[in-house]
Amino acid sequence: MSELVTWAKDGAIAVITVNNPPVNALSPGVPEGIGAAVAAIQTDDEIKGAILIGSGATFIAGADIKEFGKITSGQRREGINFLELLLAIEDSPKPIVAAIHGTAFGGGLETAMACHYRVGVASAQVGQPEVNLGIIPGAAGTQRLPRLAGVEKAVEMCAFGAPVRAKDALACGILDRIVDGDLLEGAKSFLREVIASGAAAPKTRQRNEKLGNAETNAPVFAAARSLARKTKRGMTAPLAAIDAVEAATQLSFDDGCRREAEIFRECLFSNQSKSLIHVFFGEREVAKIPGITKETKTYDIKLAAVVGAGTMGGGIAMNYANAGIPVLLKETDQAALDRGLATITRNYANSVKKGRFSQEVMNERLALITPTLDYSGFDNADIVVEAVFEGMALKKEIFSALDRICKPTAILASNTSTLDIDEIASATSRPEMVIGHHFFSPANVMRLLEIVRGRATNLEVIATSMALARRLKKVGVLVGNCRGFVGNRMVAPYTREAQFLLEEGAKPHEVDAALYEFGMAMGPLAMGDLAGLDVSWRIRQEFKHLEKPGIRQPLVADRLCEMGRYGQKTGAGWYRYDENRRAAPDAEVEALIEETAAAAGIERRAITPEEIVERTIYALVNEGAMILEEGIALRAVDIDIIYINGYGFPAWRGGPMWYADAVGLQKVYERISEFHARFGELWTPAPLLKQLAEAGKTFAQHDKER
Ligand code: 3HC
Ligand code: NAI
Repeated sequence: MSELVTWAKDGAIAVITVNNPPVNALSPGVPEGIGAAVAAIQTDDEIKGAILIGSGATFIAGADIKEFGKITSGQRREGINFLELLLAIEDSPKPIVAAIHGTAFGGGLETAMACHYRVGVASAQVGQPEVNLGIIPGAAGTQRLPRLAGVEKAVEMCAFGAPVRAKDALACGILDRIVDGDLLEGAKSFLREVIASGAAAPKTRQRNEKLGNAETNAPVFAAARSLARKTKRGMTAPLAAIDAVEAATQLSFDDGCRREAEIFRECLFSNQSKSLIHVFFGEREVAKIPGITKETKTYDIKLAAVVGAGTMGGGIAMNYANAGIPVLLKETDQAALDRGLATITRNYANSVKKGRFSQEVMNERLALITPTLDYSGFDNADIVVEAVFEGMALKKEIFSALDRICKPTAILASNTSTLDIDEIASATSRPEMVIGHHFFSPANVMRLLEIVRGRATNLEVIATSMALARRLKKVGVLVGNCRGFVGNRMVAPYTREAQFLLEEGAKPHEVDAALYEFGMAMGPLAMGDLAGLDVSWRIRQEFKHLEKPGIRQPLVADRLCEMGRYGQKTGAGWYRYDENRRAAPDAEVEALIEETAAAAGIERRAITPEEIVERTIYALVNEGAMILEEGIALRAVDIDIIYINGYGFPAWRGGPMWYADAVGLQKVYERISEFHARFGELWTPAPLLKQLAEAGKTFAQHDKER
């Protein structure tokens, strides 16, 4: 018997335990171990039933995702065949109860569904999150789940991947009982009841009563497909999962499993799946920072403070309150403070209205936010996040005040999006405690937190920031200090190219449509209108002195701002907006573009969507390669995670650097070299890109060889 799975006897009950930390994934040896235990219990007449349980933090959290890469790369020849093991469990004449804590996800839930009964603690969650990896359940999940929970619930879980809490799992028939107190003891008493009843062990695959009929199922599948097209735009796995559940309603169990296996394989070998698996491991990889180990000391964060209750400060304070951390929120005058608090209250009230949490939770969160007009209480704060206007003089003034007031162990963070963290730190006597915490707007929604390391920032402050990001339910990515850090530095050439394309002949809606079709959450011009064109206008003015003479600059954005067209907030920017903030192309803007281009002597021509995508996305990639070479990002995957979580880059394309790998760095380098010859210095190929392209390598290989 493998160490990964052990079993022991307690009178008539056998307890089969999976010991494969950290998440008891079905790695090689685990399915075999479970199979051997199930076979062994059949040979002992004293045993009347068994419990399958996970040791440590969780039940089985799924197949071992690392194995998928081995299969698709040819490193592992045989596929993964859990189906036979699951049939052996289900065919056991002795009842088997899955005892669930933590998460029964993917192959974990599929294993549990092959058991005859399932019990779980109240905090347990079940789910089929495979679509998030670009695949579908591959061990009969799409066939057993509709039999257990009904077609609608199965479609929802398999196509959209969200976890289901124990209470709901009980209600829909996935769980048979919620256990209070000790899980194993509860499972044993459940099993004793089953044994005493003498009932035959029920097989999920033979239960057809919840499968509905063609007439009742048709609208369920139609609604799910339409929702998947809208909310999972561009992704193939959600639609594939719906097809597989539909097969369960049309075919026998065995044929349905065969159909599921075909669809699973197609998905597994797709670029989307490879990209999404890259993102899954990437989100965990970014937490690994050279020099930081489990032993690195972190500071306790019990009280936070935020300076500035504007767009960002209010959202940042909400993050702390949502994580249960009390937070002081400082403004300069009562009116600004009232405005900030009113926005926070409105945001919370909207969440209550949408049923995300109760009024009681909202009240608890609001009570954690203490508004103030001075620095009282800041001497106790463990962290202060500054989110005042973007101006160096003001930021330095604030940091100098914080340096006087805050305790020596307080972390002093700035939410600046462009300014030099070292210069801000120079206003204090403790630059080692200063760091950038660059949240994204809306700060209470966006998952990304760029953590900007200054020259002097100490490792403990970085480690605390990374741990804090997790507590705030953000993906924290450590970046170096340069203008715009990683995300905004890369977005600059991206939006620059979008605007050059306008001057050369494309219309705003054509540029945005090409990138939306590529999979971006929105096009660059619509994004500018949403963020406010005045924001980048001010930044351009602040950095005007750094512009190199003779280098082409976009011409139209400044003109729009001079006309008071700041985007959505003024009802007009690149587009015109109605009272519901719906955008429409604006002839006035198109005329302005044409006139500006003519005055600058720019020849206009027809521009294809392909050129739009190449010019903008390769601009991102080229800047990303420079950032990587300079060490501003630790790894290419860090850039991918930043772009997916902060800039609406489609996760199913894996991020800009992964996408470039998929296109082929040689091709990307060739196109960039052509653009260089055609458009000049701005397109100078990044040396690292050239080097990797010439060596026939990828950014992913470069990450591995670091
Ligand atoms: N396979 C391989 N490694 C896994 C894994 C899996 N299924 N799930 C988690 N891990 C690894 C992580 O990479 C991480 O490794 P690291 O420490 O080296 O970075 C470690 O386990 C801990 O993971 P987290 O940091 O994510 O731990 P949390 O406690 O925050 O979350 C979790 C635990 C909720 C289980 C989360 O890890 C998760 O959602 N995992 C993926 C679950 C999943 O997608 N299951 C379906 C797999 S596909 C499948 O089952 C196909 C089947 O139908 C045939
Ligand atoms: P904002 O203008 O909405 O809010 C700034 C607030 O700071 C104002 O309410 C102002 O009254 C207050 N303030 C000014 N001086 C103060 C002081 N001495 N004490 C207390 N409060 C003071 O600005 P926004 O958009 O929230 O930006 C704040 C910071 O966040 C800037 O550094 C900006 O670059 C950065 N940022 C902005 C993003 C955005 O999308 N808006 C995204 C990421 C970062």
